[in-house]
Amino acid sequence: METTIPKSAPEKLASLGKTGGDRPPFCALTAYDYPVARLLDEADIDLILVGDSLGMVVLGHDDTTEVTVEMMIHHTVACRRGVHRAPLVADLPYRSYESPSEAVKNARLLVGAGADAVKLEGGEAILPQVEALLSDGIAVIGHVGMLPQHVKEEGGYSKKGKTEEGAARLLAAALALEEAGVAAIVLESMVHEVAEKITAAVGVPTIGIGAGPGCDGQILVVHDLLGAFPWFRPSFATARADLAGETGRAVREYIAAVRGGRT
Ligand code: KIV
Repeated sequence: METTIPKSAPEKLASLGKTGGDRPPFCALTAYDYPVARLLDEADIDLILVGDSLGMVVLGHDDTTEVTVEMMIHHTVACRRGVHRAPLVADLPYRSYESPSEAVKNARLLVGAGADAVKLEGGEAILPQVEALLSDGIAVIGHVGMLPQHVKEEGGYSKKGKTEEGAARLLAAALALEEAGVAAIVLESMVHEVAEKITAAVGVPTIGIGAGPGCDGQILVVHDLLGAFPWFRPSFATARADLAGETGRAVREYIAAVRGGRT
């Protein structure tokens, strides 16, 4: 009987690969709890991110800066129980990787909670942290472009790479992360041609969100895909379901049934 040897986390990440030839882009989504993580895994998703976007879409904060390592552990453990196939990545939250040793200490906690890799935001400024994580045997995904953890300093969410200088900075950051040894790089909210240029320039897969179709893979916040957070959805995200509407309908139907003595 043929036995399949399960892939290690770095192998799973490496197999995401660059798009090209007959290789289609890969698909990633966020998850924050057991049922959604399990449903995504069973639906054959290529990568699951326990994103610190949970601060907004699960916990109701205005941005991701309130998210703590403890919260990330709590949600990563829950997702881990439901994921047996796709690589599971967890975000290192805001201010949890101020130094290389702090990054390693907190990333070990996320790996202990079940993450196959961690993601952190930034370019050259966080290279010592990225290098320390990799030396510790922890797989890393980079994140450049719009950095949600810096939304307060930046005064809002805005598309990156609009000037030649800005585009060059993004490319330099991505090349530096690749050189350091990251497994993949998220490109968030940037001019599409810039994302395409970065994708062509780096040897590791890029994962776009609001960065156009020229990336090796795409990622979305699962609530945006499912129409589960009706109060805000970024313009680039297409909702392919209306969970908020369905929830309201089912709840109203239940209320009417109970109040009408029909249960
Ligand atoms: O936290 C998150 O959901 C993310 C994605 C937007 C890439 O970092």
